[in-house]
Amino acid sequence: MHGWARCEALAVAIVVLLGAGFSLPAMAAEKGLADKGEVLVRENCSRCHAIGLTGDSPNSAAPPFRTLSSKYPIENLAEALAEGIVSGHPDMPIFVFSPHAVDAIVAYLKSIQVDAPAN
Ligand code: HEC
Repeated sequence: MHGWARCEALAVAIVVLLGAGFSLPAMAAEKGLADKGEVLVRENCSRCHAIGLTGDSPNSAAPPFRTLSSKYPIENLAEALAEGIVSGHPDMPIFVFSPHAVDAIVAYLKSIQVDAPAN
């Protein structure tokens, strides 16, 4: 009796998941990428930079990420992140990210910009 009830609950959960997946395919993928980027910047950048929509950077010299697009298109950062050029800043450690991680970080950064994108 108990085993059967659990089985039914699982079946319902699967149907719900499939339903959600089919209703917003492209957006879900894009959101997943930005979410991954958020995790990456939280782990690697948040001890100096403000990474969210509000708040000040822990390191006052580091610009909050939501303001980056006022200086240049976020796409320009992709190359820098992949090659470690961002490390040109003295206080900042060297980061080199995989292409997929770069896509994720760029997707996240785009999602939080307060100014209209410069591109
Ligand atoms: C140890 C502190 C520290 C960490 C960690 C850090 N940054 Fe920075 N970052 C800085 C500082 C300080 C500046 C400002 C340097 C300057 O203006 O010369 C800066 C500037 C920047 C800029 C602006 C560059 C420009 O030309 O205006 C970008 C983009 C950036 N950081 C991205 C990142 C990313 C992405 C990460 C995580 C992968 C990260 N930073 C991690 C300290 C840090």
